[in-house]
Parts: sequence; C-alpha cells; structure tokens
Amino acid sequence: MLTSISAPQTRQIDPCDHAYWSQVRSHFMLERGHAYLNNAAIGMPPKPVGDAVAEGFRLMSENPSKAKRVFHDYIEDELRPSLAGFLGVQTGEIALARNATEGLYHIINGLDLSSGDQILMTTQEHPSAVRPWRVRAERDGIEIKEVHIPSPLVSEDDIVERISAAIEERTKVLFFCHVTRGGYLYPVKRLSALGRERGVISAIDGAQAVGMLDVDVAGIECDLYTNSLHKWFLGPAGTGFLYVNHAMQPSFTSLYAPGDDPGDDARRFETQGTYDLPVRAALGTALDFLNRIGIANIENRLRMLSDYLRQALLDVPRLRLLTSRAHDISSPGSTIFEFEGINAARWRGPMEAESFLHVDDHDRDGHQGLRISTHYYVTTDEIDRCVDKLREMVRREG
Ligand SMILES: Cc1ncc(COP(=O)(O)O)c(C=O)c1O
Repeated sequence: MLTSISAPQTRQIDPCDHAYWSQVRSHFMLERGHAYLNNAAIGMPPKPVGDAVAEGFRLMSENPSKAKRVFHDYIEDELRPSLAGFLGVQTGEIALARNATEGLYHIINGLDLSSGDQILMTTQEHPSAVRPWRVRAERDGIEIKEVHIPSPLVSEDDIVERISAAIEERTKVLFFCHVTRGGYLYPVKRLSALGRERGVISAIDGAQAVGMLDVDVAGIECDLYTNSLHKWFLGPAGTGFLYVNHAMQPSFTSLYAPGDDPGDDARRFETQGTYDLPVRAALGTALDFLNRIGIANIENRLRMLSDYLRQALLDVPRLRLLTSRAHDISSPGSTIFEFEGINAARWRGPMEAESFLHVDDHDRDGHQGLRISTHYYVTTDEIDRCVDKLREMVRREG
C-alpha cells in the first residue's frame, strides 16, 4: 500500500512502441469501449493509485492511530523529498495542497500587497485565479491589469513583449499560466526573467503543466508555482502543491502559522488540520508509476500523439485549428479547434453519449470549439475514431 518510489527511468522509450504502450495502458481501468480524451479536466489515475487510496482508507478504519502515524511518516520521509526531487526543488520549498485552486488562494492572499499596488495577469487565466484576485482587489484596493493575449497565440516574443510593455512602476506581481486551459504554452522562463529584471514577483498557475511536460520548477526561476497533481500527473483527486522559492519565504505570509513559527519551510503555508492521509500518500504510488515510465518518455509520447492528432484534424472540413503546430507555444497535451459557422462546444454531450468519446468544450476567448487531451494512455486508433466522429458531426450540420 505504501509504495516505495522508484528512481526515474533513464532508458529512452520509443513513443510509437506499440507493445510497450499497450502494456502501460493495461494498468488503466477505463470502461470498455470508451476513449478518455479529457485528461485536462480531470486525470484518469492508473489502477495502482486507486488501489492505494482504497487500501489506505481500509487501514484507517482498522487501526486509525497506527495508520495516521504510518501515513504521516511516509508523506514526510518518502513522498515530500521525492516529489521535490522530481520537480527539481528543495524539500523545504514544497507545501502540499488539495489542488491548484488551493495553491492559488495561498499565493493571492499570502503576497504582501497594499492599496495602489498593481498585479498583471493575462486574459487567458483560469477562474480559479481570477476570482480570488478580484476578492483581494476589492478587499485591499489593489489593481488588476489584464494583458490581452490573442487566441491563437502568435509567438513567444509576442507574449513577452505584450507583458513587458504593460509593466508599470507600481506593478508588483506578474501572474500567468504555464499551460492555459486551452493547452497554450507560455514562455514561463522568459516571463520569470522579465519579472526579475523589472523587480516584479512572478507567480505561476501550473495546473496543466506538471506530468505533461518535463517541468524543472527551480529552472524556471519563478517565485511561486502551483499545480493540481490530479490532472496530468495522474494522482488521486484532491492533490496538488504550492512551491514557494526559499528567497521568497520570509516576505510571503502564511494564512495559518505566525511569522515566528518554528517551522521555517514551505510547510507553514499548508492548510492545517487533519486531511485525507490515504489520498495524499497515494501520490507516492502515482509518482512511482510515472517514474517507471520516465517524464521525458511521457512528454515524447504526448508530442507524438498531439502531432498525430493535429495533422489528422487538418483534413476535417470547416475545422480551424487554434493550437499552433509549433512546439514552443503549444503544450503536448491539449489541442483546441473550432468550426466555421458552427457552435461545436455543444457537441461534447453527443460525442460522449453516442460514441463514448470524452472530450471537453472550449467556449471562451471568442471560440465555441472543443478541446481534446491526449495523455500517454491514449492510442492512435482512439484518435482516428474521434476524428471520424468529428467528420460525422460536421456532415450533420449540413
Ligand atoms: C489553468 C488552470 N488553472 C487552475 C485550474 C483549477 O484546477 P483545480 O480545480 O484542480 O484546482 C484549472 C483546472 O482545469 C486549470 O486548467
């Protein structure tokens, strides 16, 4: 039940090695005949992760005090350092959380900002961030300035130039996604460097990035970064983390622990009290599963699948691909597109009900399209089936 976490796989695996990826897929419990192409909404954890959660709750019922001790020690001694290692950061820089939204609440409320200060965010941020920023603006009189980022994206330079031009004397924070809901990839390292050059804090919503890309959080050189581990990392639902750079910690306020609290690392920023120990502990099983494949192999497999999908979509009548085919501004996990003269966002329900194809609508930034997520367990046959269904849906529109 408490998985000992394997060292990361270093062998390079061919993203098209059918036998290998079929064997990986055999560890997923997806209902027969369904194709799960909606991982960006909620991940589909492999069987060992679900089993670890179920077993963990059984132990909690059989012997609660022992279970509490065992889980606590595992989380502190094995999981936290391994997760920090996976992200390339120090153990003391990680606060465990229930999801990215919780991490965003900590970021938005922990920053030392006062009336008249300004924060910059882009027009493609998630409501989980936009809403608490608005609360903070109302409460403390800070100003939110939204930088328009066009959809589709133009280029890395375009994003950096727009944000750079928007920075003012009173700008205190640059807030942006690593990968947007639509799967657009922002140049996070360049944006963090821009923040440093201009004396502005960089805070990143990485909800869609970790587990999809080989993310070296320390290498981004940002101040704050948060993520939901139940998306691309394939952890159990209700898991995430907040990274607080060591240099940032003295000026970042915890909502729960006083400034002179002896805990001098990022654990001070965790929501306190008893939590769902078996769920958090099962993150160790998720990390072990991921490490056995290797994050670089996962990213390569995702690139292969999304390149395959984007190529196939080009032949669908009336379809306009919104995701760029250039790798520097598109993530390998999610692809968005729309149809000339059709509101395709309403196809999500029929595609699932009629053909067991799970996709998501993309009804924002002026688009009424769809989002397809291709995690490593997806097959090219499933992609073909989905593209055929899209052709059928277009024909139906007449
Ligand atoms: C970019 C982004 N940020 C934040 C979130 C919120 O994630 P969660 O509901 O896991 O907290 C999402 C969820 O889809 C997202 O796509």
